[in-house]
Amino acid sequence: MLNNYTLSDSDFNKLREIVYKEAGIKLSDVKKVLVQSRLLKRLRELKIVSFSDYYDYLIANYETEKINFINLITTNKTDFFREKDHFEFMKDVILPDIERKNLSELRIWSAGCSSGEEPYTIAMVIKEYFKNKKSPEILILATDIDTQVLQKAKDGLYPEEHLAPVEERYIKTYFSREVINGEIYYRVNDSLKECVYFRRLNLLQEQYPMKKQFDIIFCRNVIIYFDRDSQRKLFDKFYNYLKDDGYLLIGHSENITNVTDKFILHGRTIYRKAL
Ligand SMILES: C[S@@+](CC[C@H](N)C(=O)[O-])C[C@H]1O[C@@H](n2cnc3c(N)ncnc32)[C@H](O)[C@@H]1O
Repeated sequence: MLNNYTLSDSDFNKLREIVYKEAGIKLSDVKKVLVQSRLLKRLRELKIVSFSDYYDYLIANYETEKINFINLITTNKTDFFREKDHFEFMKDVILPDIERKNLSELRIWSAGCSSGEEPYTIAMVIKEYFKNKKSPEILILATDIDTQVLQKAKDGLYPEEHLAPVEERYIKTYFSREVINGEIYYRVNDSLKECVYFRRLNLLQEQYPMKKQFDIIFCRNVIIYFDRDSQRKLFDKFYNYLKDDGYLLIGHSENITNVTDKFILHGRTIYRKAL
């Protein structure tokens, strides 16, 4: 049993320093209650009775425990067809543009992909667009720092209610219905899975392992957790990883105007490189 399950300010400060160092996520004072409730489960699993003991445990087992710790801290909210007008813009503008270029390979990066709804949505929209046309090979790299959501993404199994934003025709083509313990789930079909590559990647790390540039980068609802300096470094890297005629899409509540001048606004939270 926990005997001291209140997170003190000093333990919170030590823990949030680690979150910032490892994931670039700035936790404000009001996040203390949230951190406390998310970590409690981990303390129980480890049979650790106070947050200061957990901090000592984290430091003593840093390389392995930091992954669990960061997994608990990240906010993974996502949805199929989230911020739908981005996908309308893809259909109406980006994909016709790509079609005209007659590319052999279409490379897209979903950076901060959470449990996979975003990259699978991208895959569905592209497959539908090129259904009766000559399609480029579709390669979607989907990365996240959180290993737990990545496992969910790879499994591609979603409760029925998660499919609410997905049109029936997409469900019929790209999902299989399964009943597990009396509950209805939908599993992503192999035809979608085979164009999405899930990898763990910390966006704050100095260098990324990818060699080639992308036609589109989605980094939506991720930078809200980063401070200005981390955001600027990230957009410097995105600049190098985006093709000169590519598109960068960020979340609708995000803004990079005061962060970088390397991108020019092209639509609602849609950017192109300033050349
Ligand atoms: C709120 S979700 C957004 C998911 C999706 N892009 C969307 O808009 O629906 C933010 C994701 O960013 C990930 N994330 C946070 N910090 C990160 C970092 N430093 N590197 C990579 N991913 C990170 C989180 O684990 C989380 O899954």
